[in-house]
Amino acid sequence: MARLVVVSNRVAVPKSGTRAGGLEVAVMAALKRYPGLWFGWSGRISHGKEIETRIHGGEDDRISYVVTDLPKEDYDEYYNGFANAVLWPILHYRLDLAQYSRRDLSGYMRVNERFADELHKILQPDDIVWVHDYHLFPLAKALRERGHRNKIGFFLHTPFPPPEIITALPQHERIVYALSHYDLAGFQTEIDAANFARYVETECRFPGDRERGYDTGQHILRIGAFPVGIEVESFSRMARRAARSSFVTGVLESLSQRALIIGVDRLDYSKGINHRLEAFERFLRANPEWHNNVTFLQITPKSRSLIEGYAEMEKLVSGIVGRINGSLGEAAWTPIRYVNRAHTRTALAGLYRAARAALVTPLRDGMNLVAKEYVAAQDPDDPGVLILSRFAGAALEFKPALLVNPYDPDAVGAAIFRALSMPLAERRARQAALMQILAKNDIRDWPEKFLEKLTEPLAGRQHGTDEASPLLSEPAWPEGEAARRPPLYLGKLPQ
Ligand code: G6P
Repeated sequence: MARLVVVSNRVAVPKSGTRAGGLEVAVMAALKRYPGLWFGWSGRISHGKEIETRIHGGEDDRISYVVTDLPKEDYDEYYNGFANAVLWPILHYRLDLAQYSRRDLSGYMRVNERFADELHKILQPDDIVWVHDYHLFPLAKALRERGHRNKIGFFLHTPFPPPEIITALPQHERIVYALSHYDLAGFQTEIDAANFARYVETECRFPGDRERGYDTGQHILRIGAFPVGIEVESFSRMARRAARSSFVTGVLESLSQRALIIGVDRLDYSKGINHRLEAFERFLRANPEWHNNVTFLQITPKSRSLIEGYAEMEKLVSGIVGRINGSLGEAAWTPIRYVNRAHTRTALAGLYRAARAALVTPLRDGMNLVAKEYVAAQDPDDPGVLILSRFAGAALEFKPALLVNPYDPDAVGAAIFRALSMPLAERRARQAALMQILAKNDIRDWPEKFLEKLTEPLAGRQHGTDEASPLLSEPAWPEGEAARRPPLYLGKLPQ
């Protein structure tokens, strides 16, 4: 098989300490199965004029890692600026938090061009390129402009909002539109895929449909949902072992028989941490019998601290924790333990198994693998209960969880009570149903599903050929009003 070239902003080079969340779980599953390389930012900022690109060999030589530094200006404008202060909030439906500037947009475009220049040096004609996440929307276009006709797929790990929201992004015609240069655009859920398809239909006005793809005038763009999962068996095994570790037994001892509720998230406004804490407070105020009988452990490594919304979130969350602990805590009981330190996956697996309930209540999330890992970690004979936001991608699969609206603290408070008092038979039944769902979508099958669709032979127009697409000769797309409107960009992509 051809070489797989994965591209993302973060690259989890072994032993480098760089982590990339759910993206890392997904990319590693792909690279374990198909040998190749992973290209992206080294996580370092270069100060001199020289920008270094380095190659690291993988542990078994089947995978290499090629990473490049970012100059300070790019780090500010591309990473802290356009990617994380404009695209991230908008993709999470938070137009109010987006801080658009032309300068940041040009930094974003510049880094995409530079990534394309670096890739241009190493790409071979039969490589299959798989680009990940919102940092790199325009990368396929930049590669096409350098003459690459390879199959190029894209996967978005975050949500994709409806066109009514994404069109508020200034210059979306340049940025979001650029996704049409990929052969396949993949999303976490059907909702995200349908939102993007609607963007393609109403903004790009390419003829076609989800089934057959869309004719961009240059090639066929396919759209699909490929929900990210986890390696169920190995995670369960890891949790069983970790639950006996001195770390986990030490935590349990320190709880003195109190029930443990766990929350694990990067410190990010999309995770709903402040709403969750207020919900826990409502639960405690409504149920005094649980005072001194439960501890909520919220593990929250700090992230993107240089961006305004994040710095505010840090202050807000620690303020709420202090207020709740101050007003409800007792000399021998602290209701909330709030930890900003990152923990290893093994330590988390053990804690998940020990926890009677997990609060996974993002305001909006692409998938959320904490929800999946929590389920995989449970003891089937005495499982804990997952309380899950209906706005996490995982909620579309995990119907047997306790689904909640994270904006309703009373409802989340009531779900906490229900989880802690749920009879064993009901816990077992929900856990068994969740495990069945989890096993059906193991991450080991995920790369194949995506890559099969990406490389599927198409009857239509291909990059680098003049052959007309059968789509263009079939009048199967919208008749009537929609068909009479002049296509905005048909066959001619905006510069
Ligand atoms: C999310 C994004 C990833 C990102 C990760 C960590 O999961 O989808 O692309 O790598 O957050 O965020 P950071 O800004 O630290 O890379």
